[in-house]
Amino acid sequence: MSGIFITFEGADGCGKTTQIKLLDEYLRGKGYKTLLTREPGAKGLGTKLREILLNYHGEVSPTCESFLFLADRAQHIDCIIKPALEKGVIVLCDRHTDSTVAYQGYGRGLDLDEIYHLNKIATNGLKPDLTILLDVDLKTSQTRVGKEKDRMESAGIEFFERVRKGFLEIAKQEPERVKVINSGETINNIHSKIVKLIQNKIECNKFLI
Ligand code: TYD
Repeated sequence: MSGIFITFEGADGCGKTTQIKLLDEYLRGKGYKTLLTREPGAKGLGTKLREILLNYHGEVSPTCESFLFLADRAQHIDCIIKPALEKGVIVLCDRHTDSTVAYQGYGRGLDLDEIYHLNKIATNGLKPDLTILLDVDLKTSQTRVGKEKDRMESAGIEFFERVRKGFLEIAKQEPERVKVINSGETINNIHSKIVKLIQNKIECNKFLI
């Protein structure tokens, strides 16, 4: 596959949506073909799954929740991400496999080995070339999320402490792939750091900048 697969991860309110858009504009400005996408719910069937995942008000078991995220991922990989990578596109994805490890594994307490295994099935073994993890302290993230919370954002402070710990643990285990950036810095500083990381990755993949 000739494209590059870049994912953005972090707890709710970490600022990744702002950064992924800035990076997309930057790369397009340099003439690259990009695809800006997200999980859950890139488009089509995914948007239906997103609606359930974020707005369903009845009881949802953690296992059911995981399978819904994984179903969305399988569809996303097969129908959107892989075809784009095959065309040489740089795919920028707002959340992916690490969110399931952090939220459903560390957050909800599901077995981590099982989550890794299910992620592998959902992605058919495709892994991001680079993951930007925006690390945010809980006070900042809770303020940024605000009062109108969706189903996931309503999970409570202890849950988000576990999620943050989970993300940092993933970064410790896979330092080559996952690069941690402190989301407390200014938007411009964070953007510059991300651009450097992406340029390195593009050079490694023998793209011309
Ligand atoms: P979204 O509105 O996209 O949040 P954000 O802008 O912070 O990315 O909502 C996605 C929510 O779903 C978010 O709370 C994280 C959660 N999530 C999981 O719990 N597991 C997953 O595998 C994924 C992809 C997301």
